[in-house]
Amino acid sequence: MASIRRTLSPYNDRSHQNGANTPFSPQSPSQKQFPQGKTTFSPVRRFVAGVFFRKHQTRKNFQFSWNKSLLRCFMCFFLGLLLGMAPFNSDFSELRQGDLRKSDFSFEMKPEVVSVQKSAGDLASIEKLKENDLLVGAVELGVVEKIDKTDMKKVLDFVSGKQLIVVSPTYSRAIQAYYLNRLGQLLRLVKPPVLWIVVEMNEASVETSEMLRNMGIMYRHLVCVKNNTDVKDRGVHQRNTALEHIERHRLDGLVYFADDDNIYSLELFESMREISRFGTWPVGMLAQSKNKAILEGPVCNGSQVIGWHTNEKSKRLRRFHVDMSGFAFNSSILWDPKRWHQPTSGPIRQLDTVKEGFQETTFIEQIVEDESQMEGIPLGCNRIMNWHLHLEAHGLAYPKGWVLPKNLDVVIPSK
Ligand code: UGA
Ligand code: MN
Repeated sequence: MASIRRTLSPYNDRSHQNGANTPFSPQSPSQKQFPQGKTTFSPVRRFVAGVFFRKHQTRKNFQFSWNKSLLRCFMCFFLGLLLGMAPFNSDFSELRQGDLRKSDFSFEMKPEVVSVQKSAGDLASIEKLKENDLLVGAVELGVVEKIDKTDMKKVLDFVSGKQLIVVSPTYSRAIQAYYLNRLGQLLRLVKPPVLWIVVEMNEASVETSEMLRNMGIMYRHLVCVKNNTDVKDRGVHQRNTALEHIERHRLDGLVYFADDDNIYSLELFESMREISRFGTWPVGMLAQSKNKAILEGPVCNGSQVIGWHTNEKSKRLRRFHVDMSGFAFNSSILWDPKRWHQPTSGPIRQLDTVKEGFQETTFIEQIVEDESQMEGIPLGCNRIMNWHLHLEAHGLAYPKGWVLPKNLDVVIPSK
């Protein structure tokens, strides 16, 4: 691109020297060079030059060019004025001044009425149209009322939906991939916010880490480090690791202990959000013999817990007959006990020292004093929302690597 600043050309120097040009008019792109060596100027320059250096122009010529310019200027002005006043509406000639103003500045939407009246062609249809107009107003009011009662509640529930903190102890074995994926996929379907706290013993396994990474849900992968080899109930320590974590970080939500192998419905997780302090519900199970289904959990009158389903004699000694997967509670009980007038002091934890079958009741006794502080869900506690079947295949390890040593035989059908 050419630079605007120019050095003086040898020619310019020459013209300056021989006086053909004035010292105050350096050569510019607007200046055209004629073969004869004479220069011609743009109109502006010509005007400026005319003002300062009149010796090249007579007074008469100068006045003539000014008059011509002024005349052109006035002509353009009048032409513009006329164009500006002309309406762009083709019906301008038919409209009176008042109509013009109305059509240009009014925001009324009258065309529908006019066109429908014309097409209907009789009074009856006009009356019908008026009626419809009135009906539309009534429907609008109805919609507002409906949103107030039901839809708005749903919207607000979603916005302020309580976080679910789902705690799952897990360990490496062949069927773990199936269990963890099944539970993870279900949690993906639950409305957020959901936090899945998955706890392993001693170290985080590659398999669990990879599954959680690919699941697409919010999770925390924790490790429970316990030197004691004589652990009676390993799930207990892993759940306690999660409880410590929730307490330390003051995680806010509803805590639910979800073993990886249980069967859960989506409804369960949605219903849990109703809980304020401590909620419980009946869980479906198989009896020890595995040949009949039994229930464990509350008997309710509405949301009030009035009794318990229990089937085995030894379990009559328990205060509360609830399965580990049959209750959820507000996490702030762990880190803000005063707010809930908590019955015991000290951290709320699962106990490794209790007899089998007493784990749940001893834990719940730290959270509530009696049934009056419980909420039975769903209303009447009349549906089974999850199952605890005890069908675990404990001993089977993950196969060593997934790569096949040989390609599988391929059969290609010939035509
Ligand atoms: C029984 C009881 O019903 C539970 O109340 C008790 O908490 C549980 O045992 C336990 O040992 O923790 P059950 O279904 O027989 O439940 O136990 P599992 O399904 O074998 O394990 C429960 C949870 O702990 C599962 O999520 C499992 O993955 C996990 N777990 C189990 C471990 O993380 N490590 C283990 O060595 C065993
Ligand atoms: Mn189990």
